[in-house]
Amino acid sequence: MTPLTAASYQRCVFLDNHSTTPMDPRVIADMETAFRSVFGSAESRHHVFGNASGNAVDRSRSSIERLCGAKSGTIILTASATESNNLAILGSVGTSKDGSHIVSTASEHLSVLLPLRSLNARIESTILSVDSRGEITVDQVEAAIGPKTVLVSVIFVNNEVGTINPIADIGAVCRKRGILFHTDATQAVGKLPINLLELPIDLMSFSAHKIYGPKGVGALYVNRETVGTRLKPIMYGGGQENGLRPGTLPVPLVSGFGTACDLAREAMDDDANRIGAMRDRLWERFQNEIPNIVLNGNPTNRLYNNLNVSFLGIPSEAFMTKLRGIIAVSAGSACTSSNPEPSHVLMAMGIHSDRIESAIRFGIGRFNTMAEIEFIADQIRDTVLELRLHFR
Ligand SMILES: Cc1ncc(COP(=O)(O)O)c(C=O)c1O
Repeated sequence: MTPLTAASYQRCVFLDNHSTTPMDPRVIADMETAFRSVFGSAESRHHVFGNASGNAVDRSRSSIERLCGAKSGTIILTASATESNNLAILGSVGTSKDGSHIVSTASEHLSVLLPLRSLNARIESTILSVDSRGEITVDQVEAAIGPKTVLVSVIFVNNEVGTINPIADIGAVCRKRGILFHTDATQAVGKLPINLLELPIDLMSFSAHKIYGPKGVGALYVNRETVGTRLKPIMYGGGQENGLRPGTLPVPLVSGFGTACDLAREAMDDDANRIGAMRDRLWERFQNEIPNIVLNGNPTNRLYNNLNVSFLGIPSEAFMTKLRGIIAVSAGSACTSSNPEPSHVLMAMGIHSDRIESAIRFGIGRFNTMAEIEFIADQIRDTVLELRLHFR
């Protein structure tokens, strides 16, 4: 591994916390110990090594459950939120009768939309459009549900513009009709208070690396009382995770996930206040100092860490190239991602292509500081004003 040099690392401000987060040093410390001490298979409880690993997994599972108010024994560990979404969708409807129906939204992550598409030959899906702020309503969901609907899947917090969907109300509509309700809560868990004892959610996906934990481990919450036997595995093997997700568990990653959940629970209010203040300050500086900018999404109904802004007239590629080495962000255009399409979420919002092509997503995180925000606000103002002369 070639580490980033201290100089290049220190100069560049990481504001791409929606795509992933740096690990909390306390998570790293926990995992360092776990990598050295708990190498046994968590399934091999009959010997001391396996038993130590099994205990570490139990502790983490409890921490994950506690973070979202889930009952004991409801968390299936996976490798990522992508895998959790695939398991929730393909596992719950893969064996449904031909002609069954699913409702979802155009602002889902591709790890929801593409599994849905893969079922299209047999299972019909209604993909609800979102409004220009990225929102859907309970009425839209209710109107789309029909006699053949077996699953509704709606993202909790959108990863591009931070919109918070009315999950409790949508879940209540589904619960009333006995339809499974899945939510992709990858951007919500650890940031918003979630109490699964009260929320009518049947299946919920999330992962550790969005909450300052390690990459390579995720979770699917399964409400056993309401889901029953409707969820089937999509992989087969050693029968781990109640037969729903086979494979030997990566105990150090699971341990880090648990610690990240404990820290998220402790820091939730403080994170929200500090990060929200930084996000608001950045937007205030942009508004005061840079003309011709537009906020994408809903200015109030959105997660505290999200700021998605179009710097009109400046292709996001030019913005990113000019500021490479100074700031790490994501673009609404296709320029920086492995996906050759512009953001399908911004397109679904029906906003003009000028706005999509100039959109930049800022994701503020626990380890950013107000000094960084002031620094990058200066840099961005100077860069945008300079590029505007060029792209006139
Ligand atoms: C809303 C949402 N769902 C799913 C994912 C996929 O998460 P993972 O990287 O854990 O597979 C992401 C990652 O960006 C996301 O933001």
